[in-house]
Amino acid sequence: MCGIIGVLGDHEAAPVLVEALKRLEYRGYDSAGIATVNHGVLDRRRAVGKLVNLSDKLVHEPLAGKAGIGHTRWATHGAPTEGNAHPHRGRTVAVVHNGIIENYRDLKDELKGQGVTFETETDTEIVALLTQRYMDEGLSPVDAAYRTIDRLSGAFALAFLFDGEEDLIVIARMGPPLAIGHGDGEMYVGSDAVALAPLTDRITYLEDGDRAVVTRTSVEIRDANGDLANREIRLVRAEATRVDKAGYRHFMAKEIDEQPTVISEVINAYVPAGADAIEMPGIDVDFAKVDRLVMSACGTAFNACLTAKYWFEKLARIPVEIDVASEFRYREPPVVDGTVALFVSQSGETADTLAALRYCEGKADRILGIVNVPESSIARESSAVLELHAGPEIGVASTKAFTAQLTVLLLLALKAAGDRGTLSADQIADRLAALRGLPAVMNTALDLGETVERIAMAVSEARDVLFLGRGTMYPLAMEGALKLKEISYIHAEGYASGELKHGPIALIDTNVPVVVLAPDDDLFDKTMSNLQEVIARGGKVILISDERGIGRAGDGLWHAIPMPKVHADLAPILYAVPAQQLAYHTAVAKGTDVDQPRNLAKSVTVE
Ligand code: F6R
Repeated sequence: MCGIIGVLGDHEAAPVLVEALKRLEYRGYDSAGIATVNHGVLDRRRAVGKLVNLSDKLVHEPLAGKAGIGHTRWATHGAPTEGNAHPHRGRTVAVVHNGIIENYRDLKDELKGQGVTFETETDTEIVALLTQRYMDEGLSPVDAAYRTIDRLSGAFALAFLFDGEEDLIVIARMGPPLAIGHGDGEMYVGSDAVALAPLTDRITYLEDGDRAVVTRTSVEIRDANGDLANREIRLVRAEATRVDKAGYRHFMAKEIDEQPTVISEVINAYVPAGADAIEMPGIDVDFAKVDRLVMSACGTAFNACLTAKYWFEKLARIPVEIDVASEFRYREPPVVDGTVALFVSQSGETADTLAALRYCEGKADRILGIVNVPESSIARESSAVLELHAGPEIGVASTKAFTAQLTVLLLLALKAAGDRGTLSADQIADRLAALRGLPAVMNTALDLGETVERIAMAVSEARDVLFLGRGTMYPLAMEGALKLKEISYIHAEGYASGELKHGPIALIDTNVPVVVLAPDDDLFDKTMSNLQEVIARGGKVILISDERGIGRAGDGLWHAIPMPKVHADLAPILYAVPAQQLAYHTAVAKGTDVDQPRNLAKSVTVE
């Protein structure tokens, strides 16, 4: 999604803005631009495509000035052209925006009626032109911006820069996050702490409805009612914003390899050393009294929830209702007493997940958020939060956050099983012991990278790939397919193995690789029947199983990836590794942009 940066500095702003925009690249974008004020004159440069195009333009047409705003745009309204790139401007104001102005058509008609002409197809231009109109009517820049903000509906993070004002940025937030960075005699604004990291570690997050007047030496924040608001300055931990590739070719590869460490962090956070207990301070839920769990999320986080449904139902015997967040609230599901609602999100900012959470507010007994960003909107609006402890995830394709989500969800399911007495203390201790061993087991799985890479070379020739799994391997089949399609652009689908005969089997021919995720567990024999059905039709089966499973599958496999043996309940966490590696190496073989795949945004802050 779009990224915003603003600087009121002591040095030339343009290089600082471009550098900060680079740190926002991971969010996904298709054009970029900056505006500065120099000797009172507002000017801007914009370019389509990667930031290097903007940098090139700035070499030939430099922008001087120590005050500026910048933007990476992920197109929503209007194609990714230079004309639609931000900053948008009126004569004496420039604006950058993340989100969607939902009433832009009405406002546009109003201004058109007054003879104002528009140059872009965007929803954002109205913000600049409405502010311009109010300034032309005599309002000060701040009052004009605030009057405009009051008229907007939708989701927005906004930053305004004004002609003739070298010590002023006005900002506002309704939905997408926006933060102020406090420097020494300098002030910054940015979409997240990652963008601001090299500039400052002292950050103030705006709340929804907030707007602020920022100068080099002062910040005045007002809440949605216009009252002065006191928002705390937080010190951001360095590890929360460390985003280097550490020698890896791609962030995704680094993040795949970080998973054993992340799993250890999660275990350390929720299982006290030497104890067989799960401690989740603040969760304050006695699951013995819970009748029903409602879960919602998007994309990979949804696949984590779907896996957890199996755990909560099987281990803790709690009925679970689950839906993708973009559908959840439109079904208007009854959320009755005795319900705990659970929302899972790496970014904590996904608009649909946040909307699903808000739908449950006042209806569910408790709202639990599982997020990687503790300052995020979902974290703030949940009654209690479980952090993922995954560190910043920069690759657009979620990897370490997924296995962290699974680990936290499994621990929560075990806690629920303990509360409800559906597992004995010994049974829980067994699983915790297995979980403690998981990072080492995962390292063994990671060592198979070269085997997976060889298989990926062959997969990269395919046009379609099917993923099959049964039980908890079914959501993982969906996740494996999602990973492959989003970064390699190969069409992939994940199916429950048993569904094969009900349609997808028609797709099987000698050109379609079929990835079967099947540890040698209680369901193995059933899945093997499906595997034989594929082989009988000339399908090319890649079996991901343990040694025994691969041995039992017999002849006819195209390839096999041997996983270490692991406790059945932990298999989805472990088997995520080869699924991720397969997608990664296939994408590398195809030469796609692994970390920033086309059309995708890291944090989807619009519906
Ligand atoms: C896929 C992926 C997305 C996200 C989804 C939700 O690799 O990353 O499907 O999982 O956009 O994002 P969060 O978890 O930030 O709510």
